[in-house]
Amino acid sequence: MKDMDSNPRYSHRPQSMNGYEEAVEFLPATDTKKVEKRDPRWKFVVIGVVIGAAVISLAVGLLVWHFAYRMARVPKVYTGSVRINNYVFVDAYENSSTPEFKQLANKVKDMLGELYRGQKDIGPHFTESYVTAFSEGSVIAYYLSEFSVPSYKAEVLDNAVLNLKIQSVNLRMRQILSVDSFEAYPLDANLARSFRNNSCSYFLHAKPGEVTKFSTPGFPNTPYPPNMRCQWTLRADAGHVIRLHFKTFKMDICKDLTGDYVKLYDSLSIAENRRMMTLCGSYPPSYNLTFFSSQNVMLVTLVTDSKGRQPGFMAQFRQIPQTTLCGGIIRNSEGVITSPFYPAHYQANRECIWDIQVPGDKYVKIRFNMFYLLETGASENSCTKDFVEINHQKYCGEKKPFVVSSNSNKMTVRFRSDQSVTDTGFTADYLSYDSQNPCPDKFTCKDRRCINMAQQCDGWNDCSDFSDELNCNCSASQFRCKNSQICKPKFFLCDGVDDCGDRSDEKDCGCPDNNFQCTNKKCIPEAQKCDKTDNCGDGSDEIGCPEVPPNTCTKFTYKCKNNQCITKTNPDCDGVQDCQDGSDEDTNMCNCGKRPYSRKTRIVGGVNADVGEFPWQVSLHARNDGHACGASLVSPTLLLSAAHCFQDLQGIRYSDPSLWTAYLGLHNQAQRTSQNVVQRSIKRIVAHKSFSDYTYDNDIAMLELSSPVTYTDFIQPICIPDSTRTFPVGKSLWVTGWGALIEGGTGASVLQKADIRIINYNECNQLLENQLTERMICAGFVSGGIDACQGDSGGPLSSLESNNKMYLAGVVSWGDGCARRNKPGIYTNVTAMRDWIKVNTGL
Ligand code: ARG
Repeated sequence: MKDMDSNPRYSHRPQSMNGYEEAVEFLPATDTKKVEKRDPRWKFVVIGVVIGAAVISLAVGLLVWHFAYRMARVPKVYTGSVRINNYVFVDAYENSSTPEFKQLANKVKDMLGELYRGQKDIGPHFTESYVTAFSEGSVIAYYLSEFSVPSYKAEVLDNAVLNLKIQSVNLRMRQILSVDSFEAYPLDANLARSFRNNSCSYFLHAKPGEVTKFSTPGFPNTPYPPNMRCQWTLRADAGHVIRLHFKTFKMDICKDLTGDYVKLYDSLSIAENRRMMTLCGSYPPSYNLTFFSSQNVMLVTLVTDSKGRQPGFMAQFRQIPQTTLCGGIIRNSEGVITSPFYPAHYQANRECIWDIQVPGDKYVKIRFNMFYLLETGASENSCTKDFVEINHQKYCGEKKPFVVSSNSNKMTVRFRSDQSVTDTGFTADYLSYDSQNPCPDKFTCKDRRCINMAQQCDGWNDCSDFSDELNCNCSASQFRCKNSQICKPKFFLCDGVDDCGDRSDEKDCGCPDNNFQCTNKKCIPEAQKCDKTDNCGDGSDEIGCPEVPPNTCTKFTYKCKNNQCITKTNPDCDGVQDCQDGSDEDTNMCNCGKRPYSRKTRIVGGVNADVGEFPWQVSLHARNDGHACGASLVSPTLLLSAAHCFQDLQGIRYSDPSLWTAYLGLHNQAQRTSQNVVQRSIKRIVAHKSFSDYTYDNDIAMLELSSPVTYTDFIQPICIPDSTRTFPVGKSLWVTGWGALIEGGTGASVLQKADIRIINYNECNQLLENQLTERMICAGFVSGGIDACQGDSGGPLSSLESNNKMYLAGVVSWGDGCARRNKPGIYTNVTAMRDWIKVNTGL
């Protein structure tokens, strides 16, 4: 008070002045005389007041932060298991409502309570524990413990709980419950709560010799409900493990654990460190979704978000005797080894050791044909999770086929899986070889793999370590990639595809001065641009010319139903309306090229297609002779195929529709009665009038089914490309069919697929001695090895386009033999046939 009274600021203030005017007076210090006239103590007082206010607000802020945020309590939940040695498992422990369960559960709860209370960083925050289940061994108790902790202590609590040692339980308690191997893992509190309160819990115990089924609620008639939390506790008898197999798995896609997902645990607690697998999206029925537990329990959980649209899953499980047998002593000179239960997912916590020894004068090599030991997020360099170890070198992750060899007649292969996340494992052949001559009559790769001599210096990395392509002389038709020094065919230059892997084949692709570069990369003299002639061959030199107003119609512009023209490339079905009448996004037209099972799957055993992977593929059977040609479904009643399939031959009237039967939704020729398969007779065949059985020009035909088919997951139409759509050189596409597996060989039983590439037209025409017409396109590999063959004719060449739909780029037509070097396959150019298709199908 005293200071205030003596404060000169108040005594100086003229009565008439208000505070505002005064502030204006003393802030700017330009008029020094005026300032000097003031009492100097003034400044200190002002500074003092400001500092005081700042201190007070800081203190208030700190208090608010302390009480509202730092001290605010957050819920924490841990889950895990504890092993009890002085109890023997009884059946009543499987049911949480029995007195036996309750009695032991209470003891475990007491024990956990004591354990927590004895720790200064844990005890004060502990709220409650629950025992969720027991299993054998002697008795394993699965628990959930809840805590409420000031947020600033949450991390300390986490560390304390995760490092808790069961030995800290006091002696008295240990006499009641002799416990060891305590595990704790943090759990999302909301998730824990929703699982605890949920009615969607099932308890299933395998019956000896029987299969037990379970599925998502409503399966298969209604989609699973939204916002669901379900769990299935699976048990087997003591001394057994569980074999779980998903027969159908169709759920929404998920991303970073948003969306719908299923998790499998090798435990009865939902602890992440015991999670074997997270499943979501759709798996084709052929994918081997099979899992084995390491003990006699497994837990399956389901979480769905607010929008559930999919049917869900159907699973079955049974018990099999537990065996720890794997690996072994091997003295044969060749054989096969696989991870346990391959191609099903291997178990967690396994170790197998193969001790291989071949005759003394030989060496051993092992070739891994399939190798999937992948755990997302785990390091592939250090292989700390699951791995295979050979001669002190560890291998893990997902690998292309590779070979490991030893410089002696012995090799030790060790497979090890940790306690979480399993994969499908590996299959490998081992064999002995002569150290002087590892590959008789073949080329020896650096890793001692053997390849055919012809594959050396062919521009393809056949050894997978490029050793077959090093030190080669590039031929006149080849160029040398910069980094790898590999020789590649010249037509890969400037094709828009990075064939060298270092883009060196796509550098310096510009055109010389005074030249125009076409969309297809061709260079033409600038003067030829906009001269009303298609010099590029793709029309790109005649688009957007000044005298041509935008959206003028040319051969290369997309034409809407109302005849409006669109200069944009591939405007159809791209999700953007370009035509005023919307015809470019017409739902009927755009309902095509969809693959219900679009997940990238791992094909076990070569090039079998997956079930439902090419749902437009049709098998055409002639008379009772079985499969003769392929075809593609383009509408509920129409197929496209090759004209040459329907030419009368040797007295057989192949042009007669009644000769033919179409199978749709077919995967395996031996399973034509499968429920996914639909059979139709053919009502009408229209082969192109100008088809020439001499040149195979115009090799296209349309077939009408006797009655429409309903689209399913296994039967879908492929999109027909507009005449303006281009499939650029180098683009990779799929050819599929049941045709011969090798030239002159017999057909395949399971639908085959091959990933091939569009080949430059001129290059191909040269290779095939000028037998190509404008209505043909070339695809395959100049090096040979991958191609369509007899029996594939009429089938689709499917191209995945940027709108994520598959388009029919070609129809299998002809070839010089099959898969020969320098003889790629020839396909009917569907875009060149667009008008014919329109006239004959109305599509
Ligand atoms: N013309 C054969 C057929 O009738 C198809 C041949 C395809 N050949 C090839 N090498 N791509 O099935």
